[in-house]
This record gives sequence, C-alpha cells and structure tokens, in this order.
Amino acid sequence: MNFSKLIPLGRPLQSRYGWLGIASAGALVLVALSCSSISRQAVMLPEVPGAKYIGAAECEQCHEEITKSFPTADHARLVAMGLNALGAGCESCHGPCSLHSDSGGAIKPPYSFAAGRPSPIGMDGPMPGAAPARAKETVCYTCHLDVRGQFELPSHHPVPEGRMTCIQCHPPHRGLAHAGGSTQLLSQEENCLQCHPAQRGPYVFEHEAVREGCTTCHTAHGSINARLLTVRDSNLCLKCHFQQPKGGAILIGGSDHTTRLQQGSCWTAGCHEAVHGSRVNSSLRF
Ligand code: HEC
Ligand code: HEC
Ligand code: HEC
Ligand code: HEC
Ligand code: HEC
Ligand code: HEC
Ligand code: HEC
Repeated sequence: MNFSKLIPLGRPLQSRYGWLGIASAGALVLVALSCSSISRQAVMLPEVPGAKYIGAAECEQCHEEITKSFPTADHARLVAMGLNALGAGCESCHGPCSLHSDSGGAIKPPYSFAAGRPSPIGMDGPMPGAAPARAKETVCYTCHLDVRGQFELPSHHPVPEGRMTCIQCHPPHRGLAHAGGSTQLLSQEENCLQCHPAQRGPYVFEHEAVREGCTTCHTAHGSINARLLTVRDSNLCLKCHFQQPKGGAILIGGSDHTTRLQQGSCWTAGCHEAVHGSRVNSSLRF
C-alpha cells in the first residue's frame, strides 16, 4: 500500500511514521512518502524565501484544465493531513506558489521548467533569494533518488545529457505517471515506438515476445548491460525458450543448440539478429 502525507506546519513530528527530517518551527514543509508499507522516505519540499505553499486548490482559478484532470494523477496523492490540510500536489514539483498566485501569474513559480528562465519575470534580476528554475529531472530526483542512480549506469537513456526528459515518458499532470497507464492515450510500447520506429515493423515474422512490451528485455532508465538490456547474455532469451536436454544435446525450440550456445549470445552469434521481428526469416535471422 502506498501513502503519502504532507505534515502541516507546526504539527509535531511523529517518529512512528519514520520521517527523517526535523522541522524547525514553521520553516520547513515535509512530505513523507512511501514506496511500500515497509520502506518510507521523507523529503523536504524546497523553501523559497518569501513564498508560501498555498495548496493545489488555489491553482484551479487560473489553471482550470490542468487542475481538473490532476486528481487522476499519481502525484495528486501527495496530500495534506490535519486541519490545515493542503494538497501539496502541484507545488511538490513547482515549489511554493504564493507569490506567483498573488501576482496573478506575473511572478513565475519557483520551478516552472520553462527553458532559459532562471529568475521570475517582472523583476530586475533574480528575486532576492529565489532559487533558479531547475531542470525537470532535478525536481524529480528530490523524491525519486533511486532513479538518479539508474541513469548513471553505463547504458542509459540520455536524460543526464539533456537530450530527453523524464516527462517524455512520465506525464506529470494526468493519469498514471507512466505513459502506458490505463488512463493514458499511449501504451508504454507506443511511447517507445514513437522514438524508435525501426522496432515497429511491420514484420512478416513477428517475435511474440515484443507483444509483452519492450521492458520484457530492456530497462527504461539504465542498465549495466549494453543496449539497456535487462540481461547481458542468452539467459535473456532462455527465460522464455527453455533448454531441453535430450540424449546429451540441448534442444531449444526443438532444434539442437549444443554447440551454438558457445558461439555468443543468441543475437550476436549471427543467429537471431532480428530479435524484434523479421521480414524474411521465421527464425528471426535477418
Ligand atoms: C491568479 C491566477 C493564478 C493562480 C492562482 C496560479 N497561477 Fe500559475 N500562472 C498564471 C498565469 C497568468 C500564468 C501564465 C504566465 C505566462 O504565460 O507568462 C501562469 C503560469 C504558470 C506556470 C508556467 C510558468 C512558465 O514558466 O511558463 C506554472 C508552472 C504555474 N503557473 C503553476 C501554478 C501553480 C502550481 C499554481 C497553484 C499553486 C498556480 N500556478 C496558481 C496565473 C495563476
Ligand atoms: C510531477 C511533477 C509535477 C506536478 C505534480 C505538477 N506539474 Fe505542472 N509541470 C511539470 C513539468 C515537468 C512541466 C513542464 C512541462 C513541459 O515542459 O512540457 C509542467 C508544466 C506546467 C505548466 C506550464 C505548461 C503547461 O502545460 O501549461 C503549468 C501551468 C503547470 N505545470 C501547472 C501545474 C498545476 C496547476 C499542477 C497541479 C494541479 C501541476 N502543474 C502539477 C511538473 C509537474
Ligand atoms: C515531492 C515528491 C515528488 C516529486 C517532486 C516527484 N514525485 Fe513522482 N512520485 C512521488 C510519490 C510519493 C509517488 C507515489 C509513489 C507510490 O505510489 O509509491 C510518485 C509516483 C511517481 C511515478 C509512478 C511510480 C509507480 O511506481 O507507479 C512516477 C513514474 C513518477 N512519480 C515520476 C516523477 C517524475 C518524472 C517527476 C518529475 C517531473 C516526479 N515524479 C516528481 C513523489 C514525487
Ligand atoms: C524512455 C522512457 C523513460 C524515461 C526517459 C524515464 N522513465 Fe521512468 N520509467 C519508465 C518506464 C517504462 C518505467 C516502468 C519500468 C517497468 O515497468 O519495468 C519507469 C519507472 C519509473 C518509476 C517507478 C519505478 C522506480 O524505479 O521507482 C519512477 C519513480 C520513474 N520511472 C521516474 C523517472 C524519472 C524521475 C525520470 C527522469 C529522471 C524517468 N523516470 C525517465 C520510462 C522512462
Ligand atoms: C523521447 C524519445 C524516446 C523515447 C520515448 C524512448 N527512447 Fe529509447 N532512446 C532514445 C534516445 C535519444 C536514445 C539514445 C540513442 C543514441 O544515443 O544514439 C535511446 C536509446 C535507446 C536504447 C539503446 C540503443 C543503443 O544503441 O544503445 C534502447 C534499447 C532504447 N532506447 C529502448 C527504449 C525503450 C524500451 C523505450 C520505452 C520504454 C524507449 N526507448 C523510449 C529516445 C527515446
Ligand atoms: C525479446 C527481447 C526484446 C524485446 C521484447 C525488445 N527488444 Fe529491443 N533489443 C533486444 C536485443 C537483444 C537488442 C540488442 C541487439 C543487438 O545488439 O544487435 C535490442 C536492441 C534494441 C535497440 C537498439 C538498436 C538496435 O537495433 O540494435 C533498440 C532501440 C530497441 N531494442 C528498442 C526496442 C523497443 C522499442 C522494443 C519494444 C517495441 C524492444 N526493443 C523490445 C531485445 C529485445
Ligand atoms: C517473453 C518471452 C520471450 C522472450 C524473452 C524471448 N522470446 Fe523468442 N519467442 C517467444 C514466443 C512466445 C515465441 C513464439 C512461439 C515459439 O515459436 O516458441 C518466440 C519465438 C521466437 C523465435 C522463432 C521460433 C521459430 O522458428 O518459430 C525465435 C528465433 C526466438 N523467439 C528467439 C528469441 C531470442 C533470440 C530471444 C532473446 C533475445 C527471445 N526469443 C526472447 C517468447 C520469448
């Protein structure tokens, strides 16, 4: 079970929730997160001098469309507890928005991700003490620290290089944060294929494994294996194509693979190079 709480200002911290931070009176806003009922994580929402958290409900008067669909978003679950309850949802990514709201939008939210806009508009120079707008993934990493490590692995999608962003795969405002969640228009596979049309086919000889989704064989963020593969060698294929020992020989798919398995992985040994499907060969050779 997942749950998350925003601790209203001034509410005493209770260690049974496993919160990691200590709030100095009224200065910090904490959000306690959990990925499972056992492991909990606490993060600190950024403090921006002069700006207060106002809650997601306030955004509605000016951002009706985003706010209306936001309750379906995973991140809408970052809600407040207690009498002074605030929905932290929007501001968990955009930062405290009181100045933004009071100025009718003239002062930008602390984190609005617009390119090349390091300081609030409508002021000469940066607002005193205001944090610069951060790259999207930096905001995401404040809560999803484990993901940062995945993008540091040798084979990774070029997010750290700035060539793509988290939200190309994880829409922030609506539905499940995964492209491919049930409320999304795109399936996860469609999302991958938009950028990797070569893997789409059409193939004369489809590889049924691909129907189970690209993440059957690839990790989405990063991997120690080349080509973002979940498994480095032939075991990637053998989890579905069982080896049957028969009279000293090893059969895979009914054919003798005893010596072939020593020549390299299934797809590099010149055997099944067309792992995603083939236009010419039923054994996915070319
Ligand atoms: C009183 C009206 C008003 C309220 C309330 C308001 N906004 Fe805005 N917001 C605006 C306007 C107007 C713009 C467009 C400014 C522009 O295009 O330059 C804007 C733009 C934004 C942007 C994009 C900024 C950019 O760099 O392009 C974000 C993000 C944002 N608002 C988030 C929020 C959040 C989150 C809340 C609630 C906590 C909120 N806003 C509440 C009026 C408001
Ligand atoms: C998971 C983090 C996250 C949450 C939560 C979030 N946003 Fe955003 N928001 C983003 C990102 C990332 C962008 C930049 C989108 C882009 O570049 O296409 C953005 C862009 C915006 C923009 C400007 C661009 C646009 O699409 O109009 C507005 C306005 C905005 N958000 C308002 C809100 C409001 C209101 C809420 C709550 C109802 C909210 N956001 C919740 C991450 C978030
Ligand atoms: C303030 C903390 C916070 C920030 C900032 C944040 N998230 Fe999240 N995110 C959460 C929480 C809490 C959940 C729900 C976790 C759960 O259900 O286990 C979540 C869920 C998700 C999920 C779904 C995970 C799953 O297991 O289904 C994805 C994907 C995700 N976030 C991506 C992002 C991206 C991309 C950004 C930046 C644009 C971002 N998050 C910013 C806290 C945050
Ligand atoms: C190429 C598309 C893609 C990009 C880019 C991407 N993700 Fe993901 N992400 C996925 C997919 C697909 C999954 C589900 C993995 C699975 O089902 O095996 C996932 C899972 C997650 C999860 C939940 C599982 C976990 O590992 O905790 C979080 C949180 C998350 N992503 C955050 C992020 C953040 C933050 C970024 C940017 C730094 C990012 N993602 C960039 C596709 C992507
Ligand atoms: C927004 C575009 C985009 C999306 C969506 C996307 N990718 Fe990628 N993918 C890239 C880029 C860019 C690279 C890096 C290519 C390069 O470095 O030449 C890449 C690299 C890869 C590689 C490694 C290729 C190599 O030569 O090492 C694999 C495998 C891959 N993506 C699979 C996926 C899967 C699976 C998904 C869906 C979960 C996905 N991609 C979604 C843009 C995308
Ligand atoms: C049955 C396992 C499997 C599935 C499922 C799978 N792939 Fe792959 N993919 C591989 C292997 C193995 C390689 C490495 C091929 C090589 O090195 O020659 C690869 C390589 C790639 C590459 C690198 C470019 C290339 O052709 O070498 C991309 C991009 C890619 N896959 C995208 C996808 C996408 C998108 C999907 C989902 C539509 C997908 N893959 C599904 C096994 C798979
Ligand atoms: C998720 C399960 C799965 C994975 C992983 C998988 N396959 Fe398959 N593969 C299938 C299914 C299902 C079929 C169609 C039924 C059959 O022929 O066994 C198939 C068919 C094939 C065929 C065609 C057999 C024929 O001649 O008709 C080849 C060749 C093949 N796979 C090779 C590979 C290789 C190489 C890998 C590793 C890169 C791999 N498979 C990974 C499920 C999988």
